[in-house]
Amino acid sequence: IEPIQIAIDGPAGAGKSTVAKEVARRLGFLYIDTGAMYRAVTWLALERGLSLHDEEVLTALAQEASIQLLRKGDSLAVLVDTIDVTDAIRSPQISSNVSQVAAVAGVRMVLVEQQRAMAKSQNVVMDGRDIGSYVLPFAQVKIFLTASIEERAHRRYLEFMNKGIPVEEERLRQEIRRRDEQDASRDVAPLVRTADAFLIDTTGLGIEEVIQKILDLLPNRG
Ligand code: C5P
Repeated sequence: IEPIQIAIDGPAGAGKSTVAKEVARRLGFLYIDTGAMYRAVTWLALERGLSLHDEEVLTALAQEASIQLLRKGDSLAVLVDTIDVTDAIRSPQISSNVSQVAAVAGVRMVLVEQQRAMAKSQNVVMDGRDIGSYVLPFAQVKIFLTASIEERAHRRYLEFMNKGIPVEEERLRQEIRRRDEQDASRDVAPLVRTADAFLIDTTGLGIEEVIQKILDLLPNRG
């Protein structure tokens, strides 16, 4: 039987990973955080002091890097060539550079191939920007998750506060806005809401409500 694919796309900070992770957990599906893969390549490029303008170098880097997403209890560990970068890839420095790396066609080709391979033989919940539109165009369930820019920035702010990392909310708002613009305007597989994606505006909604909406969309399995 065909594996089931649930594609969740949307702008930064809409709650995709929180919701996708929990939907996957309840269904016993594999959760694939594709943003973490672009972040991992960005981390490695900066670590090696490479120019983020050199598309060939970045593509070669994506090809040779071994990026692993490992389930670690309720969370997901991200390894790059066996180095645990789970926390490092969430830094403001990575967030402000990742869209540039993700705009490189060659980098996307390498990572998309890995993403499709993972979804080929097992049920998955995959989140990102181009999952329903490009990576898994035949996904049985496609969701476009969004929320107001204020709410998205505020959620990010609370996340950082909870980790004890001081940040300015206004800066987060600017960073998110800039990243969304970059992701939506790039030439290759931009952030887009496809006609067959179910729109969920999570502004003012709790996590559980969003999860239920998604579970309700699943075709009956029996
Ligand atoms: O989801 P997250 O915010 O961690 O993604 C980080 C960045 O990775 C996005 O801003 C985008 O530039 C890139 N990305 C992408 N395609 C995906 C997932 C993420 O271009 N499928």
